[in-house]
Amino acid sequence: MTPGPLVHPMDLTAETLQAGPYSLRLLARGDARELLELFSDPQVVAFMDIDPLEDLEDAEDIIDWATDLAERGAGLRWSIRRAGEGRLIGTCGFNTLELERGRRGEIAYDLAQAEWGRGVMAEILPHVIAFGFERLGLRRLEAMVTVGNERSCALLERHGFQREGLLRDHAWWKGRFWDQLIYGRVAD
Ligand SMILES: CC(C)(COP(=O)(O)OP(=O)(O)OC[C@H]1O[C@@H](n2cnc3c(N)ncnc32)[C@H](O)[C@@H]1OP(=O)(O)O)[C@@H](O)C(=O)NCCC(=O)NCCS
Repeated sequence: MTPGPLVHPMDLTAETLQAGPYSLRLLARGDARELLELFSDPQVVAFMDIDPLEDLEDAEDIIDWATDLAERGAGLRWSIRRAGEGRLIGTCGFNTLELERGRRGEIAYDLAQAEWGRGVMAEILPHVIAFGFERLGLRRLEAMVTVGNERSCALLERHGFQREGLLRDHAWWKGRFWDQLIYGRVAD
């Protein structure tokens, strides 16, 4: 039998995670307006499974999805803010968590375009990785990257993820199939 996680994700819903100078908090309805701003940028969502958001309701749907994930212990999605600053600059977390028939989590992340190329996610990702391995007791972290998302590939490769394969026509959104790369990192 697979042992349970060190901490169940549901026990972490009220917690703020400090990631260096960044604060990570579970996405909540109050984030909707800023999330709309983030995900209405076509460049930000270019390789993601969503169209650019058009209205507040779209953002609330994503927040409700994230809340449901956390409540079921099936994922966690945080807002990212610089500590002491109000503005939401991105999100990150686990799109899926498998804690019974495995111990793995699929990480996901995004930043507003103005924050790209400044090492922001490079600073946050080690905290997300440590959270997955040490707090959730995961054995394996993975990430699905749409082919062409070079920034995301570079980020993962700099943080010990291996490109494990190409999944042909793995995803379907925006009216077509997409090849995706699967990256993995296993706990030492
Ligand atoms: C994926 C994403 C988060 C990567 O952002 P990023 O800023 O390239 O990633 P990093 O935080 O690792 O920063 C690396 C860049 O910062 C620079 N940098 C500056 N200071 C740095 C520091 N202290 N440490 C590391 N890198 C630093 C690096 O040189 C590099 O820039 P370059 O690629 O222009 O050479 C971003 O492109 C994004 O949000 N994309 C849209 C959403 C998305 O596609 N998400 C992924 C879905 S799988």
